[in-house]
Amino acid sequence: MLDLATIRRDSEVEAIMEMSERQIEALGFTEHSRRHAGIVSKWSGEILRALGKGEDRIRLAEIAGYLHDIGNCINRKDHAQSGAILSYKILTRLGMSALEAAEIMMAIGNHDEQYGQPVSDVSSALIIADKADVHKSRVKNAVKDVFQANIHDRVNLAAERSFVRVEEEGKVIALHIEIDTAICSVMDYFEIYFGRMQLSRKAAEFLGCRFSLVINGAVLL
Ligand SMILES: [Fe+2]
Ligand SMILES: [Fe+2]
Repeated sequence: MLDLATIRRDSEVEAIMEMSERQIEALGFTEHSRRHAGIVSKWSGEILRALGKGEDRIRLAEIAGYLHDIGNCINRKDHAQSGAILSYKILTRLGMSALEAAEIMMAIGNHDEQYGQPVSDVSSALIIADKADVHKSRVKNAVKDVFQANIHDRVNLAAERSFVRVEEEGKVIALHIEIDTAICSVMDYFEIYFGRMQLSRKAAEFLGCRFSLVINGAVLL
């Protein structure tokens, strides 16, 4: 059975991750590196574990989470689709069954808010985990004046902490964010994350839960 540790060590995965990081950095986007991949992998697995899913589903979610952004090594545009196909090829080469690899391909191909939809438990967990990773360490541009920074960088710079938690005995999936409101307002957050929150809500509903957004302890959704 193919596990995440084997995938992380694979030299092809390493090279593709490295090139994705270089491209994202060259484009001046927020960080999409192995830090982001590792966090999304962990949270995707944790969401399904908290909902009582089996170990196989958790393993697939962790792998999908780790590989979900590798399409960035090709082009940021349509990176979900390109990354999905790339992942299928890597996973079958590493010995994963075609069925499991196809499950991961489907989840990765649906993680981006532009075209993505929750289509399975694995895909839903991946969507929620990916959109939850907002943190100041993701800002890669050198920002001299935070108020002159682009809105994406400003919102991420303001985010001190974010985490996802399954609450109320599996009925609610809550995204908790702590924002420094001296840097960005809650409105700024909504301006750029509205589409992501809508997709997260759909994903939570696919999992039979309600989505909740809690910013600085205040329940907004
Ligand atoms: Fe992505
Ligand atoms: Fe991502």
